[in-house]
Amino acid sequence: MPRPDRKPNRTLFSSGPCAKRPGWSPAVLADAWTGRSHRAAGGKAKLREVIDRSRAILGIPEDYRLAIVPASDTGAVEMALWSLLGARGVDMLAWESFGRGWVTDVAAQLKLDDVRVLEADYGDLPDLDEVDPDRDVVFTWNGTTSGVCVPNGDWIAAGRAGLTICDATSAVFAMDLPWDRLDAVTWSWQKVLGGEGAHGMLALSPRAVERLEGYTPPWPLPKIFRLTRGGKLIEGVFRGETINTPSMLCVEDAIDALKWAEEIGGLPALIKRSRANLAVVAAWVDATPWVEFLAKEAASRSSTSICLALTDTGALTGDAAVAAPKDIAGLLDREGVAFDIGGYRDAPPGLRVWGGATVDALDMQVLMPWIGWAYEEICLAPAAAG
Ligand SMILES: Cc1ncc(COP(=O)(O)O)c(C=O)c1O
Repeated sequence: MPRPDRKPNRTLFSSGPCAKRPGWSPAVLADAWTGRSHRAAGGKAKLREVIDRSRAILGIPEDYRLAIVPASDTGAVEMALWSLLGARGVDMLAWESFGRGWVTDVAAQLKLDDVRVLEADYGDLPDLDEVDPDRDVVFTWNGTTSGVCVPNGDWIAAGRAGLTICDATSAVFAMDLPWDRLDAVTWSWQKVLGGEGAHGMLALSPRAVERLEGYTPPWPLPKIFRLTRGGKLIEGVFRGETINTPSMLCVEDAIDALKWAEEIGGLPALIKRSRANLAVVAAWVDATPWVEFLAKEAASRSSTSICLALTDTGALTGDAAVAAPKDIAGLLDREGVAFDIGGYRDAPPGLRVWGGATVDALDMQVLMPWIGWAYEEICLAPAAAG
């Protein structure tokens, strides 16, 4: 096919840090609370604003606590795991790299005795009906490296005794989350709203708070993870009194992203934008014989981290065939068409295109024929040349 002549307006398709919102420029940081204490009234108000706007957009119940925490989503997940686990047995769900990472944490680092690992390969989900509501469960809402998400929260019992700990970083602001089924939910700013790295968010249900106040883990807890003092929740953390010093530039940027989300119509509009991106890719996959989604089931196909596998590498075999997706991504990078669309390093070879809310469907549409062109250059051209 001929080389397309039109490039996407914005060529940013990375799965994190993700594209900034349309129209973003560093000028949005002009009002940042810089060079001042984040504990002064104005600084605290900025931090509180992130919490309040996030809560309102996401529809987080009034009785849930929401905090800004250090170390991005990883920090938020670790905080939840180290603070909450150990009171009961735990079911760990893992179907890609990040979920597997949390299994390592719980089994090898925390060394919990009663750990059940429910696993699946890239492209699949484990059997969610096996999750035992009497046990805690740790899972990733959207497996960013396989593009497989849980289809909904129907498999989580309303009357569960265990806690649900959900790494939702590549789902929140792009997918509907059933808050009443989730007890500890984490995300980072650098994902769906295109914010900056370094800061995470942790939402806790009343039952999670009850666990924090009624249970002391047998292991030491670094200061950076501590959410209680003298057996009581440190409420200030959930009002913007962060455990340690945040970047107020990142805070300002997060506020800008949240205001944009409100302006375009809130969560329904964010979800719609992300679904539109998936729809563009799905139509292209349908019409293209050599590519498929890594996610086997349409219902669990991510609209954010859209992962694709090549089913036919044309003239290429062996190592060259394995390298084909990387070479396609490399060619599109050199052409200045799309950046960071190679699959994750631990995932099967493939392409991963971010379709979160900050990406315009029109850019996604313009990208598709470029992938087709690059495929022909990489996979078919050697045959033509030979
Ligand atoms: C599902 C999931 N969990 C955790 C992380 C780690 O996030 P962070 O780098 O923001 O800590 C990522 C990052 O891509 C992710 O996609």
